[in-house]
Order: sequence, then C-alpha cells, then structure tokens
Amino acid sequence: MKIGIDRIGFATTNKYLDLDELANARGVDPNKFKIGIGQNKMAVADMTEDIVTLAINSTLEYLDDVDLAKLGLLIVGTESGIDQSKSASLFVKEALNLPNEIRTFEVKEACFGATAGLMMARDYVRAHPNHTAIVIGSDIARYGLNTSGEVTQGAGAVSMFIAQEPKIIAFEEGHASYSEDINDFWRPNNFKTALVDGKYSTEIYLKFFQKTFDAYLNQNKLTADDFTAITYHLPFTKMGLKANRLAVAEASEDSKARLEENFEYSTKYGREVGNLYTGSLYLSFLSLLENAGANLQAGKRIGFFSYGSGAMGEFFAGELVSGYEQYLNKELHQQMLSERTKLSVAEYENVFTETLKDLPEDIELSSDVTAGKYYFAGQNGFARNYKIKK
Ligand code: HMG
Repeated sequence: MKIGIDRIGFATTNKYLDLDELANARGVDPNKFKIGIGQNKMAVADMTEDIVTLAINSTLEYLDDVDLAKLGLLIVGTESGIDQSKSASLFVKEALNLPNEIRTFEVKEACFGATAGLMMARDYVRAHPNHTAIVIGSDIARYGLNTSGEVTQGAGAVSMFIAQEPKIIAFEEGHASYSEDINDFWRPNNFKTALVDGKYSTEIYLKFFQKTFDAYLNQNKLTADDFTAITYHLPFTKMGLKANRLAVAEASEDSKARLEENFEYSTKYGREVGNLYTGSLYLSFLSLLENAGANLQAGKRIGFFSYGSGAMGEFFAGELVSGYEQYLNKELHQQMLSERTKLSVAEYENVFTETLKDLPEDIELSSDVTAGKYYFAGQNGFARNYKIKK
C-alpha cells in the first residue's frame, strides 16, 4: 500500500524584516547574512499570530478537499507551545471543526517534532487503511535581539494531509534514525528565547546528516545518484548547502549538477521566511515542488533529512506521484510572501519585545491579519481565544 502526502498547505506571518536592513543596523556586512548565512528576509510574528493561528491557517488551505469522516488523527509538532499541558492541536481541531472522534495531540523534539508526527501518521494509515491523518509543523523561532542567532529567526507552519494512494509523494518503506543526548540548542521552561551553542549545533547537524544518509543508502542499496533531489531541515539555507555538499561528494557529475540545482529550488521559500523549526524541512520540499518545474518528474526519488536539536536526526525518502503539480498552490504561496508588510528594524524590535511580555489574565487583542485568517484574540482567565478575521 502506498502512503504519503496527499495535500500540503503553508502559512507564515503577515510581517517580515529585510535582512539587509538588519545587517546595517547591527553593523554587519549584508553579504554575511545574504551569502554567508544564505537568508534574505525573516518572518516576524506579532502578538496575535502564534503557532495555533499558523497551524490553522496552513490547514485551511486544503481542508475543503478532505473527507472528514475518514480523518482519524491530528498531530501538531512544535517547540513553541502555548501551554504546558493542553495541546495546541485541540485549539486547531476546534477552529477547523474537525470531528470530536479523532485522536489528537502535540509532539515535541525540537525541529524533529513534525517528522515524529509524520512517521506516526504513516504507521497509523498503514494500520488503518481507510483512515487519514493531518500532521502540522508550526513554530516561531526566537533567539533574541542582537544575538548571533537573530538572523536565523523565522515563523510559519506547514500542514500535511497523509493518506493511502497519495496525490503528491508516496514514502518508501524504512528510515534511518540517529540520536544523542547533547546540548546544542535548548529552551528551558523559564526562557522565551532559545539558548544555543551555534557553531557546535552546525557541526552536529552535519554529523547527523552523514550518519543517517549513509545508513539509508546502505539499508536500501542506493547511492546519491539514485536521488533527483534531497531536501533538508533549513535553519538557514547555508546549513543545508553544507549538508548537500556532503551528499554529492561521491555522486557522478550529472547527479551532482542535478542535486545542486534542485537544492537551490528547495531553498527559495526558506530564504524569505527563515527558520520554521518543525516546518522547515517540509517548506523545503514545498519550495522544491513549486519552483523546480520540469526538473522534477513523477516517479523520481526525493530524500528528506530531518534534524531536531538535542538531538535527533532522520533520513527517509519518497517517490513523486504522477500529476502532483495539480495539487500545489504556487500562486497563493507567492502572493502570501509578496503581500507581507515590511517592518523597519525599530518596528521589528518593538514587535519582538512586545511578544515576550506576559499577558494579563484577561485581555482582548485585535489583529491586522487579512480577512478569513485566524488570529489570537486574547484570553479570559488565562484561557486562550482564537477568532477568524471578518
Ligand atoms: P555567526 O557567528 O554569526 O556566523 O553564527 P559566522 O561568523 O560563522 O559566519 C557565518 C558564515 O558567514 C560563515 O560562512 C562566514 O565565513 C560567512 P561558513 O564558514 O559557515 O561557510 N561570512 C560571510 N560571507 C560573505 N560575506 C561576508 C561574510 N562574513 C561572514 N562579508 C550561526 C552563525 C549559524 C552559528 C548563528 O546564526 C546561530 O547560532 N544560529 C542559530 C543556531 C542554528 O541555526 N544552528 C543550525 C544547526 S542546529 C538546527 O538546525 C536546529 C535548530 O533548527 C533548532 C531545533 O532543532 O529546534 C536550530
């Protein structure tokens, strides 16, 4: 039985910061951010856009195509949770009017959370062939003003509908996992921004890539030449570029050129929004699908490298399904990115500082999101409210 991604949706915030302007404000050569880090812009979330609104908005993109009677599972992967106990997925389920009979919960392992959810969904659909699942990776990456991680912030969600006989990509059996208990990046309960050993985290990411990629190749008797593209968790695009260099090290000249070209397509969206944490790998995949054009053909193998600090890595792969192009929303995504409001550095700093404040027990918030989008509308007795913009 073929199981994989049947639909995919994406949402980001309605504000962004231009990283040339951030570089100027921080006294850094803009080329360091654009070339050295490989990022152009980053999404900025205000107080009314959180992981729940991003998760809802990304799923609304395809929900009309889903037969809700068959839906059995909803998983939200996140490391920017809005409650220590209650799952973000319950807010999402309520807003989307999903059946009360589904199983729903939140998963955490840094940026690996959505992949953990995806693998559970794959196994769930295999065990319950008449059922389907929704898996969402939704996060807001915050390191803090004037930190070296600042340029690698971002925000957004990718939502995937998982079913048998999928319309977009069918996963191959198997996967290669690798984990170690290390401190490369973490966020203790009393912190609102992440702590990170930046250089160490980049070394560990590459080590985990090499281990899981090699293991997957051995497991399936493959070489790099057998892939049409490899997609990566992209905390910033230079990170994926370094991993892709490892991937193509022993590939033929043709494969090297193809994998390098397709890598560039896979980074187009990530360059404009920054790190989505759990959603990043899946945004790379979406970016590849919507930008590679004739370079991507049905039946070809695409690799996925998922990395979550702490740390957990996994490599898996899938085969593109014939006609996948019909199920993409390229125009919508490009419009979403081009219609965002640009913030000055001072405005970004204000928004950022506001979002770190604790909210009072009762508060009503209004939002400037566009009509039809969900926003965080405040709280009563510390219970959060979500509303749709009229
Ligand atoms: P830094 O100290 O600002 O950067 O930290 P740098 O000085 O190493 O420079 C970065 C690159 O820019 C270097 O290139 C420089 O040469 C180049 P590289 O050697 O890497 O190829 N450079 C220039 N290029 C062109 N023109 C110039 C110029 N100047 C310098 N003028 C760092 C960078 C990424 C460490 C920092 O931003 C950081 O700590 N970010 C957060 C951590 C992170 O994203 N780690 C990635 C791996 S861990 C991961 O992916 C998991 C994560 O998503 C969390 C999770 O799992 O939940 C983070």
